[in-house]
Amino acid sequence: MIELDDIKAIKKIDKKNMLGALELFPEQCEEAEKIARKTRLSVLFKKPRSIIILGMGGSGISGDIVKAILSEELDIPIFVNKDYKLPKFANKNSLFLAVSYSGNTEETLSAFEQAVSLGAFVISITSGGELAKKARNSNLPVMTIPGGLQPRAALGYLLIPIFVVLEKLGLIKSKVDEIKNTVDSLKQTRETLSPGNPLNKNLAKQLAERLVGKIPVVYGSCGITGVAALRWKCQFNENSKVPAFYNIFPELNHNETVGWELLKDITERFFLIIFKDDQDHPQVKKRIDITKSLIQEHFDSVFETWTKGESKLERIFSIIYLGDFVSTYLAVAEGIDPSPVERISLLKKELAKE
Ligand code: PA5
Repeated sequence: MIELDDIKAIKKIDKKNMLGALELFPEQCEEAEKIARKTRLSVLFKKPRSIIILGMGGSGISGDIVKAILSEELDIPIFVNKDYKLPKFANKNSLFLAVSYSGNTEETLSAFEQAVSLGAFVISITSGGELAKKARNSNLPVMTIPGGLQPRAALGYLLIPIFVVLEKLGLIKSKVDEIKNTVDSLKQTRETLSPGNPLNKNLAKQLAERLVGKIPVVYGSCGITGVAALRWKCQFNENSKVPAFYNIFPELNHNETVGWELLKDITERFFLIIFKDDQDHPQVKKRIDITKSLIQEHFDSVFETWTKGESKLERIFSIIYLGDFVSTYLAVAEGIDPSPVERISLLKKELAKE
């Protein structure tokens, strides 16, 4: 196992510098806001009947986060489309946001084309690729973000512009203060999670060490922590290259809770991670505690953490940022480069063949 305080060894394994990208994440959010505010949305737009965000994987999760944050604020439905096809309710009165870091993801391109053929207004957020070309050919706006990162390391570029677009179109109140406070907290958290902070004071490194050889199971709630649980699961898959699973309270109490009854010889390699938020429904808070007492003996370990901060954005990112570091350190501890996702690239290549 690689020593997580050995900066030289870390740099050798983290060849594409995922940790460096993580350290610059607060500044990425600031830059993303500037890019989005500068982009002109020249089309006069009447209030949409629904908002549909198109995107997959590391790009699509920006839609999930927006939905988790805005579902109690918006008075129109918001839907995250992770498919080639659009739902039947989509029409020219829907506002579409097509989010693809590469701009070349076939499901997103297919859904984008369908939205354009409906005569709908589509705003694209991308570093380029086919999406940027197609959008420009259709005279639709593009927010061009810098390329060169893994999509999952570009979450600030992919997410923050969505808030700015919705704000510019008058659909939500200004997020300026929430973004600023979130960036300030991220900068503080960075000090404690960065490679330069030693293991005995670094929660991300400690958790990564505990997770070596384990299968993470991440639980959040249908408030805001569910989406953070999804992000942790995906980051364990893509950065650490391990299987990982997630689920959401209260739904998981109606099925999965029973599944932790048999196969103890297998589940004792599972590591349960639970997120709690002060604003969780009171019954959800009770459910989390009862569930933990029912199932914890079936796991190798249980780790619980609370969100921190005021706004939903700040609270979600207090957890997501920790998970991004944990999954990257876990890769490094195992001697695995966190950046490449060869199977995703291979799949895309195979699918693109005639
Ligand atoms: O993290 C990844 O590399 C993937 O999950 C991608 O984000 C996903 O395949 C979609 O690609 P893109 O973000 O370029 O649209």
